[in-house]
This record gives sequence, structure tokens and C-alpha cells, in this order.
Amino acid sequence: MALFGGKTAGFREAKGDLRIVEVTKSFGDFTAVDDLSLVVPRGSFFALLGPSGCGKTTTLRMVAGLEEATHGRIFIGDTDLTGSRPYERPVNTVFQSYALFPHLTVRDNVAFGPKRRGLANATTLADEALDLVQLPHLADRKPAQLSGGQQQRVAVARALVNRPEVLLLDEPLGALDLKLRRQMQVELKRIQTEVGLTFIHVTHDQEEAMTMADTVAVMNHGRIEQMGAPEALYDLPLTAFVANFVGQSNLGMGRIIDSDGDHYVADVQGTRVSIPKARCQVSSGDVLFGVRPEKVKIAVSRAEAGRNDIPATVVDVSFTGVATQYLVRVPSGATWSVYEQNLDIDPIDLHPGDEAWLSWKPGHAFGVPVDESAIKVATDAPTTTPTVAVGPVTASSQGPMAGADPR
Ligand SMILES: Nc1ncnc2c1ncn2[C@@H]1O[C@H](COP(=O)(O)OP(=O)(O)OP(=O)(O)O)[C@@H](O)[C@H]1O
Ligand SMILES: [Mg+2]
Repeated sequence: MALFGGKTAGFREAKGDLRIVEVTKSFGDFTAVDDLSLVVPRGSFFALLGPSGCGKTTTLRMVAGLEEATHGRIFIGDTDLTGSRPYERPVNTVFQSYALFPHLTVRDNVAFGPKRRGLANATTLADEALDLVQLPHLADRKPAQLSGGQQQRVAVARALVNRPEVLLLDEPLGALDLKLRRQMQVELKRIQTEVGLTFIHVTHDQEEAMTMADTVAVMNHGRIEQMGAPEALYDLPLTAFVANFVGQSNLGMGRIIDSDGDHYVADVQGTRVSIPKARCQVSSGDVLFGVRPEKVKIAVSRAEAGRNDIPATVVDVSFTGVATQYLVRVPSGATWSVYEQNLDIDPIDLHPGDEAWLSWKPGHAFGVPVDESAIKVATDAPTTTPTVAVGPVTASSQGPMAGADPR
């Protein structure tokens, strides 16, 4: 087979970490991917997270060989893939539109790749891949006779059957309803653990990225703003963009006016707020400080000493089952969001219009450079309900992180 002869065999058999080295992609004057460098360790589940148009698909297409980088190189292990053709690369892609062949059965769809490569055991390989996605009973159906989630599994099986070194998933769950989406997230994670391949999952859904990935890279305007374990990104965002895009943040514009041991003291609309120096990316002047909603406590009366606190007026109280969400107006006029888990028999007796106190441990605050994207990005994100205001602002993307009460 020509596909497996000579130089081509070298590409297809490449194994190891995926390395993207100083890759730029320009379309005319426009830079879609800007000097991107990253290493995806072999066998890891990596998520590329970012708003529409930030360059996620372009990055995947360059890894797949469907798009040529303007500058830079892409390696798997020590093999430089630059310039090789898509079919020569040990890479397969699952697209949002599953792109199944409508006239072929499920089994033949999955066997298509191995058959084209002339493998005698193509059907056996297809059946094994269908086992992996738990669809052996539907092997003789046509795609049109499947639900969206089932079609998605076939698309995954069709990519996995080639045993690629790297599997690229470009918003593969985008067409599914929320419940099925959550189910497939767990399923894809199981498959990845079972087969041990490198998965690169592109999404603009931060909850999806956090649930599934070992490492999340947050992309903005063709660059990676921050990369790390989901918990690390959530706990300590380094930019306003990440603070807004990953989880909800209650944010407030402040100015650093003092230093107190290992904390900075910022003035926020006349209130003094402490931020640990180790959690603050600026050391003087303007700062955007933030506290995650589940780390803010709401009470009828003022908290004990040792906490930061501000007065607030309750705007809305909504019972969400495991938690109650309070929307409160802080002195600057902006709205913050606070979650209280429904642990106590006596719920907090607060209603819209009531005066309340918000407090948090200073150690939970973080500070990032003031940046227009704090508000701009919140407006771009599809699941966002931003509150644009001067002073403290709430820019939310999705529900609170589950977990023990950290306050
Ligand atoms: N062939 C092309 N010619 C010109 N511009 C392009 C081309 N392909 C992509 N772009 C631009 O590059 C930018 C990045 O596109 P890309 O498809 O990578 O975004 P994305 O992060 O995948 O977004 P989405 O979440 O909407 O899929 C966009 O502004 C897009 O318009
Ligand atoms: Mg895309």
C-alpha cells in the first residue's frame, strides 16, 4: 500500500507528545492564530477553550494538516509533521457535524477508514470500535435511523478505529441537548481513559472543558491566555478574560493604596479590600479584584473580624435546589451573585429589598490587571448574563462549581 510506504509510514507511526511550536496562521492581514506554542502530553485529555472566532478550529486544522501554518512547526514526538498531508498524519478529527455517509450502515461507516487502507480485518476493527462506544446492537442501521447522540458515538468510533495517536474533537457535542451533552462528556472521558490516546477537545463551554480535561488552555484572539488544571484556572485566574470566561466572578475595580504584610490593600468605592500578594498580578495602581460567588457569604448582620465585608441590598433570591442564589447590589450600584448551599434547616431570612452583609476570607480574593475584556468578553460568551457597571461588576458565564462550602 502506498499509504504505508516510505516517508509516509514515518509520519503515521509518529508517537509521543504533540508539540505546537511558535505557530502562526494568517489569513491575509488577519492573524487567526498568533505565535502559539504548547505541549500536549501523550495520553492526556486536553481542552482548548475560548469564545467564537478565537482560533480554536484553525489550530485543530493545522494539527490535522487541513490548513498550513504561516509560521511554526508541529511535532508528534520527534517527528515534524509540517508539510505532511492529512492522511499521512496519525491524527483523526471528529467534527460537530458528524459527516457520516448516509448510504452506509453504521458498521460500514466505521470500517470505511481501515478498508480504504486495505486492512483485511476492517470489519472486526469496526465491531471493536462499536463495542467501545457501546453501539454494537445498532451496527446494521443507517445513520438516519439513529439519534443525535448515537450518531455522535458512531463518529467517535469512526475516528477511533484508526487508532490515531491524537484525536481531535471540534465541538463534537454542540448539536446535542444539554442532558445528552452531559452524558456524552462522561462517556468521552471514559473512552479516552480506556484507549489512552491523546484527546484534544475544542469547546466554548467552560463547564464542559473543566469536567473533561486534565489541562485546559484558555484561548483569546489567537493566543493562549492561561493554561493549567481546571481547579487551578478556577482558583487563580491571571487575567480578567480568564476570570470572566472560566466560572463566575464577582469583580470590582479598585486601586491599590497600601500594603499590609503579605496582602495588598485596595480601595474599592471607599471600602478597604485585602488581596493576598501571591494572588495579585499587579502591585500598584488600578486592580480588578475578584471573588468567586460560592466564596462570598451573605448574612443579615455583619460578619466577625478577619473577613472582608461590604454592605449590600438584596435584589433577587432564587431557589435552585442544592443552593439558593442571591443577586445583590453593592455600594457602587453593581450586582454581585452569591450562592448559599441549602444545608441549614433554617434558611437565611432575606428577601428582595432587604439590607445584608457580604463577606469573604481575604485569602479567597484575587487581583488581575484592569482590562477592557472584563466586560467585552462577557458580552461575547453565549451563556453569559453580564452586568455591566462601573465599580464592582458581576460577569457570569455558568452555574457555580459544586463542592464543599469553602467559606
Ligand atoms: N479560511 C479563512 N479565511 C479567512 N479568515 C478565516 C478563515 N478561517 C478562519 N478565519 C477567521 O479566523 C478566526 C478564527 O477562526 P476559527 O474557526 O479558528 O475560530 P473558532 O475559535 O473555531 O470559533 P468558533 O467557536 O466559532 O468555531 C475567525 O475570525 C475566522 O473568521
Ligand atoms: Mg470552531
